[in-house]
Amino acid sequence: MSTTSNRSSGGAARPRTAIVTGGASGIGRALCRELARRGVHVVAADLDAAGAERTAKEFGCRSAALDVTDAQAVRDLVTEVRREHGRLDFLFNNAGIAVGGTADELTLDHWDRTIDVNLRGVVHGVHAAYPVMIEQGRGHIVNTASLAGLTPAPLMLPYTATKHAVVGLSLALRAEARAHGVRVSVVCPGFTDTPLLDHANPGLPQTATGAAARESATRTMGRLYSVDSLAEDIMRGVARDKALIVAPASGRMAWRGVRLSPAAAVRVAALAVRRLRG
Ligand code: NAI
Repeated sequence: MSTTSNRSSGGAARPRTAIVTGGASGIGRALCRELARRGVHVVAADLDAAGAERTAKEFGCRSAALDVTDAQAVRDLVTEVRREHGRLDFLFNNAGIAVGGTADELTLDHWDRTIDVNLRGVVHGVHAAYPVMIEQGRGHIVNTASLAGLTPAPLMLPYTATKHAVVGLSLALRAEARAHGVRVSVVCPGFTDTPLLDHANPGLPQTATGAAARESATRTMGRLYSVDSLAEDIMRGVARDKALIVAPASGRMAWRGVRLSPAAAVRVAALAVRRLRG
């Protein structure tokens, strides 16, 4: 975690403040716990208001019902937190959905919903928080993408496309934000053991790959990464102001493989498709 002073320019000590979207479950919930442990005032924001409330009760933070696809609602939350606490130190744009299936069985609804949540959700967060952080001359935006944002990840094209977009958005924003004292990091986890893998394609037509997301992930990875280890990796990466936080080590190896030979990485991905299709 950053060692940035807790003192605002007015001199009054105020606790650092963070908003974590998708804070009801999985990675977001673990981030809320880690931030709260470090004395950060956390707002767990989620579409699942009851889940966000549970996180808040458990870790002594605040909850907010939030749909990240609603730009005005995201803006209102950022404004409210800034007004109440006088500062916004961290925005974790973490909410996301898993959408899986072969390209030929995915409908436009699969594409639209993934783009709305996984990409527009992040855009809404950045659009709301970045001006506030520029004005403060300080702040850290942490976007959760995926290893699927760095590698050719088949059988989940809308997901892969949005996560590549989030990586690009984050790295380019980081380059712009530096001059304003604002930090930007992007997190690219490999398959991690969270409820996400049990409810792929939420509210959308189910597909064979989507229905078997956990099984496919386990077959691909061998063992799923633990959410607690990932939360620690993220906290360490944020403290070091890393541009890209890639975990676990197998993910970093896969990413290195793509950089060495994109063509070979596609061949490996094609083998995985054949294996998963049986
Ligand atoms: P999760 O399903 O446990 O948590 C995601 C949370 O986002 C849920 O609480 C859900 O209610 C919330 N959410 C969904 N749509 C929302 C919306 N429109 N507005 C507000 N909240 C919404 O999933 P997990 O694994 O914790 O995922 C968090 C992030 O990590 C996602 O962006 C996901 O794509 C990414 N990720 C997950 C990986 C995994 O294997 N679990 C691997 C790589 C990235």
